[in-house]
Amino acid sequence: MQLRPTRWPLSLGRVERSAGASGEGNGLGNIFLSPYFIGGAVLFVFAGAVAYFWLVSFLFGAGYQGAPRRSVEAMFRLADIRPSDTLYELGAGVGAVVFPAAREYGAKVVAVEIEPLRVLILRLRRAVGPGAERIELRRANMYALDLRPASVVTAFLWPGAMARLRQKFENELRPGTRVVSRCHPIIGWTPTQYDRAADVYFYRWPDAIATSRSGG
Ligand SMILES: C[S@@+](CC[C@H](N)C(=O)[O-])C[C@H]1O[C@@H](n2cnc3c(N)ncnc32)[C@H](O)[C@@H]1O
Repeated sequence: MQLRPTRWPLSLGRVERSAGASGEGNGLGNIFLSPYFIGGAVLFVFAGAVAYFWLVSFLFGAGYQGAPRRSVEAMFRLADIRPSDTLYELGAGVGAVVFPAAREYGAKVVAVEIEPLRVLILRLRRAVGPGAERIELRRANMYALDLRPASVVTAFLWPGAMARLRQKFENELRPGTRVVSRCHPIIGWTPTQYDRAADVYFYRWPDAIATSRSGG
């Protein structure tokens, strides 16, 4: 009878070594390459990007939400936007007001946005369409902006932001400037018109405080 005593330990050693190699290295590799891991990672990055996009502007005092087209139309109608206008859009987002104002109504638009990703989107959108020469994009804090050149100011912000802007409006706006605010009124000012369906307030400076003070 022939015995093969040495084969068992050798083959065991081989098995252990290969188990070590594929069990640890490939096991880890397998985890990273598994569809679950990749899917989870993509979802994580996507959720992070969405959370950043929506939440970061809270830090600046007004979160992000794009104005619906119906409200934008109401803003333009109430303010009677014309090609002779210089429209300042405070907190421009990704351009719901900016591009129609410049491209469809022919106004000169100064768009101010503080959040860098949205500024990048604004720049890309400006680059791929007409009317770029009428659109000035500024990555800036709207509270530090000089509003004197504006003939129209549009805003879709938060109540606190509107309260903060009120003093700035009163200091800087030229007589006759039209101010349109979506959703939030300027407390202490009297709107010339309010479009309830679109939730848009329209003011004319300085009539807005003249009527407030005379009780009208
Ligand atoms: C509710 S969104 C409105 C976006 C756009 N106006 C629209 O109607 O679709 C408000 C925007 O204001 C921007 N914002 C908030 N605080 C700002 C500040 N201090 N200066 C400039 N932009 C600001 C936010 O990043 C956000 O994009």
